[in-house]
Amino acid sequence: MSLVTLHDKQFKPYISAEAIHERVSQVAGNLSADLKDSFPLFLVVLNGSFIFAADLVKMLKFPCEISFVKLASYHGTGSTGTVNEIIGLTENVENRTIVIIEDIVDTGTTLAKLHNLLKHKKAKQIKTATLLFKPMAYKKTIPVDYVCMEIPNDFVVGYGLDYNGLGRNLKDIYVLA
Ligand code: IMP
Repeated sequence: MSLVTLHDKQFKPYISAEAIHERVSQVAGNLSADLKDSFPLFLVVLNGSFIFAADLVKMLKFPCEISFVKLASYHGTGSTGTVNEIIGLTENVENRTIVIIEDIVDTGTTLAKLHNLLKHKKAKQIKTATLLFKPMAYKKTIPVDYVCMEIPNDFVVGYGLDYNGLGRNLKDIYVLA
């Protein structure tokens, strides 16, 4: 693997496709052991999670549903402040086990918003699975239940993650050189 240039920045190899595969398969095993009898709904948070989610769900051998969502934030009028909405959620989450699938949990803002919205919609149990977790950047208290890899506060691309739209198609993960 060699350096890649995306826009104005150079990235160097960081986590190989093989190492990713190994951890994804271990997390799939943990998810299977914990949730095989709960008919969970996996909510894949677009865009960055698409490759991780595709690899992960192929390794799950129990009944589950998979749906794709985006989180929208906009400023409401008057005193309502910022309003959050889950776009693309057509399934009823009430009384169900939900597993949020994230590409990376950084400050945890995205995760916390989604978690609150799902709680509001009366999900029975909400779990989170993420490819990458930056514990030093995390500002929330919601447990991140399934983590493939913890990384320091570095900016990474590849395996679904982008830098201004580029790099999602790289099969390995790269870090700013
Ligand atoms: P959070 O809401 O601060 O946890 O940020 C989560 C989102 O920020 C992720 O879903 C990514 O889209 C983006 N993000 C955070 N860190 C990185 C990174 O190192 N590379 C690419 N995207 C990132």
